[in-house]
Amino acid sequence: MAGSGLAGAGMPGGFAHDPLPGSLLRIEDLGLADISEILALASELESEDPLRRAFRLAKRRVALLFYESSTRTRTSFELAAKALGADTTLISSKSSSIEKGESLKDTGLTLRALGAEAIILRNSFSGAPWLLERATGLPVLNAGDGMHQHPSQALLDLRTMLRVLRGGTTDITEDLLEGVTITICGDILHSRVARSNALLLPRLGARVLLCGPAQLLPEIAASLGEGIAIERDLDRALAQSDVVMMLRIQAERLAGLHIDLEAYRTGFQLNEDRMEKYPALWLMHPGPMIRGLEIADAAADGPRSLIEEQVRHGLAVRMALVARALGAGSLQ
Ligand code: CP
Repeated sequence: MAGSGLAGAGMPGGFAHDPLPGSLLRIEDLGLADISEILALASELESEDPLRRAFRLAKRRVALLFYESSTRTRTSFELAAKALGADTTLISSKSSSIEKGESLKDTGLTLRALGAEAIILRNSFSGAPWLLERATGLPVLNAGDGMHQHPSQALLDLRTMLRVLRGGTTDITEDLLEGVTITICGDILHSRVARSNALLLPRLGARVLLCGPAQLLPEIAASLGEGIAIERDLDRALAQSDVVMMLRIQAERLAGLHIDLEAYRTGFQLNEDRMEKYPALWLMHPGPMIRGLEIADAAADGPRSLIEEQVRHGLAVRMALVARALGAGSLQ
């Protein structure tokens, strides 16, 4: 992972840089008041008349620049921008001049020359959003940078949890999740979702348990922040948890690491037995799921699965983030 451990993660590369207004590069750049504002705006935009909403960013230009595959993040950012009336364009590494070797900087400058006012970036390199922001002077929304962060995912995950645990409040305080334990289980090592959530949830008083085999969750206890602990036994973790967030093994980032999948299923799969054993447990997964590996159908499709709800919250949260990026983020 970029940085040293979860909670001690600084800027990738160690350079200091204040994000531009409207940018979202990493979750810790948001204060609790910022998060309250974003969630309140998400609720307002979600319930607003679609015709009225479409005037908010009418004819403004937003570019989506995706160097890695995505279904949920890309589609929800695009639909979010369109729901606000913005014109969007999608550039992916395949079928664009990125294939011919054009750099991130030159791609960004090209998008700016074409009138983009904000760029939503997914890139396999930690820190790429900072470089793009610096090169273009445009607000950048980090849609996932390598193994570093996925801050909009952490916000939509928070909104999902607050709906089931705290009546959907948008009033974010440092004790809001006191007494709540969230287990994050799976490929923690490669997960930007785990990192962003683990950096956010303890700030609201939650306890985060990280669970997984040593290969996917190294002994980094010395650098874990307050409110974060390792519990390698999934059953012991679930017995203490209100919510479990399951993660897939990121085969594309394993780089030769061999995982015994049968042992993994036995130790770390969320299956029907485990859902029955912990009847108050809510289940989350950022997707994509690998059914039959980290999660069984009975869990994924069961009544305590929040997985589709997470996707819906993604649309609302990303409308708020796009509006904020273009300076239209104040509540009306
Ligand atoms: N959760 C998430 O980032 O999914 P996608 O890779 O499909 O965008």
